Amino acid sequence: MSIFITPTIETDRLILRPLDLKDADDVFEWTGDERVAEYMIYPCHKNIEVTIEWLCSLDSLENEYTWGFVRKSDGKLIGSGGMRFRTEENVWSFGYNLRYDCWGQGYTTEASKRMIEYAYSENNAREFVSEHAVENTASGRVIEKCGLVFDGYSEYSKFDNSRTFKCKKYRMILK
Ligand SMILES: CC(C)(COP(=O)(O)OP(=O)(O)OC[C@H]1O[C@@H](n2cnc3c(N)ncnc32)[C@H](O)[C@@H]1OP(=O)(O)O)[C@@H](O)C(=O)NCCC(=O)NCCS
Repeated sequence: MSIFITPTIETDRLILRPLDLKDADDVFEWTGDERVAEYMIYPCHKNIEVTIEWLCSLDSLENEYTWGFVRKSDGKLIGSGGMRFRTEENVWSFGYNLRYDCWGQGYTTEASKRMIEYAYSENNAREFVSEHAVENTASGRVIEKCGLVFDGYSEYSKFDNSRTFKCKKYRMILK
């Protein structure tokens, strides 16, 4: 087990950087939005205290990077994503969420490709997995556009067990 230090990296339109407590208001814009949280493993944040608690937990997460996505054009924090090394399976899994008014503009695909590239070059990551609730087709498109291919069905539940989703799993093995 190790604590990864999330670096600042970039794409054409985004800066991917570590999140900190000062970001709480901006992050709550999406963690507190039912439309964004619906298929996420976390239950929608009821108040900003929950978001602050989550931000405080990031520094001690093991084997995981968490990036905030900042739009270069206006400096706005519009979402976040994570890349986690699952030691037991020797694979890297990734996920993301974006504030609602920024959906459908290719930001998540752009950020996810960069997260993959970073783990590939800096951590020697070669095998990547991701999954999405069957109904969450937009996430499926992001995963496919990152090059992963369908690898079967499974299911996952929210942390508070309030909902369980049938999900599609994907995998990619790079040379
Ligand atoms: C999933 C999510 C991160 C996608 O972010 P995004 O920045 O809009 O994604 P992109 O613009 O890079 O790509 C979205 C793709 O899905 C497609 N798409 C968008 N809405 C769709 C819908 N309702 N049905 C089918 N496809 C859809 C887009 O057309 C695009 O594909 P294309 O380039 O082939 O046209 C965003 O919708 C979100 O934050 N959802 C809530 C959180 C979440 O579900 N996270 C993933 C959990 S597994």
